[in-house]
Amino acid sequence: FHVEWDLVQAEKGGYDSFMLKEIHEQPQAVRETMGARIDQENKRIVMPELKMSDAELAKYDRIYIVACGTSMHAGLVGKDVIEKWTRVPVEVAVASEFRYRDPIYTDNTLMIVISQSGETADTLAALREAKKSNVKVMAITNVVGSSVAREADEVIFTWAGPEVAVASTKAYTSQVVALYLFSLYLAQVKGTLAATEVAEVVDHLQEIPAKITSMLEDAEQVRHFAESTKGVNSLFFIGRSLDYAVSLEGSLKLKEISYIHSEAYPAGELKHGTLALIEDNVPVVALATQPDIYEKMVSNIVEVKARGARVLGFAIEGNNDLAKSVDEVIYLPATLPMLTPILTVIPLQLLSYFASVVRGLDVDKPRNLAKSVTVE
Ligand code: AGP
Repeated sequence: FHVEWDLVQAEKGGYDSFMLKEIHEQPQAVRETMGARIDQENKRIVMPELKMSDAELAKYDRIYIVACGTSMHAGLVGKDVIEKWTRVPVEVAVASEFRYRDPIYTDNTLMIVISQSGETADTLAALREAKKSNVKVMAITNVVGSSVAREADEVIFTWAGPEVAVASTKAYTSQVVALYLFSLYLAQVKGTLAATEVAEVVDHLQEIPAKITSMLEDAEQVRHFAESTKGVNSLFFIGRSLDYAVSLEGSLKLKEISYIHSEAYPAGELKHGTLALIEDNVPVVALATQPDIYEKMVSNIVEVKARGARVLGFAIEGNNDLAKSVDEVIYLPATLPMLTPILTVIPLQLLSYFASVVRGLDVDKPRNLAKSVTVE
């Protein structure tokens, strides 16, 4: 009797790729990110890892978030959340651009670098430039002992566990959760949210892992849509506000592992040029999860439908209205609008995964790409 023992296969834990395994690890990954940072009794955030005092943290009135790729997209969600909850202005910058800029630092500027690996050359260079100018740098990273973790003044670890697939999935959701926790902590310190408001977000955050699980169990519709894109060369993602930030991540993932040309567009900007590319049967994924901008989003969907687009809409459970304007709808479990990005990204990750599989591509090792970009 002979058993073939394949170490890589064993590491994939029964999944056909690391990416799929890591997608399924997200409920646990985000649970770990929240971990001991939630004070259950008082429904507040605690951040014992921060070395700086609350008084120092409170003085920051301007934040740069610097990162690359998916980590930068997590930063875009962080920007909206920090600005909403703390009223501190945030600028998000791509590290390869930022390192060659002449940024405007004040004594009250905080830089947040985000890097799953903690070894991305451009992000590390931006961190070093900032430190040369005596700017306080906080890192959000997944890898203990990484260069970013060692060199930053402050570190928030995401505790998502090792991410092997080139396409980043659980790193994104755990970075977004780390940004929620930090934003809430900053709001507590600055007094910009009432204790009851923080408690409400905490309650909703704690329901997120179970909601991700239910979405992962219900992936059939996404698979079906992905299969229908087999002969397609181009696909558009549209959304507004936080939905636009998540669209960028969905589009990057699709390009990266399924090699489909794709663009993410702020839906209101379509009429300034990109609408010319919409014609019969062009697939458009339209995210419509944000209630304050919902009506505007529907008008944009009507515009692309009128040009013949085939639209897959994303709506929050209970919204039966969107079905009237699109071809198919994926329903997301209800949560606070600010927390929706962690849920919206799940079917987008699955869409890119299934689109890659249906094309017979190597999901874990896309061409021309490396997991960690340690050269410029
Ligand atoms: C995401 O799927 C990518 N492979 C890539 O954009 C990645 O997020 C980027 O290179 C940044 O990596 P880091 O988080 O390790 O710094």
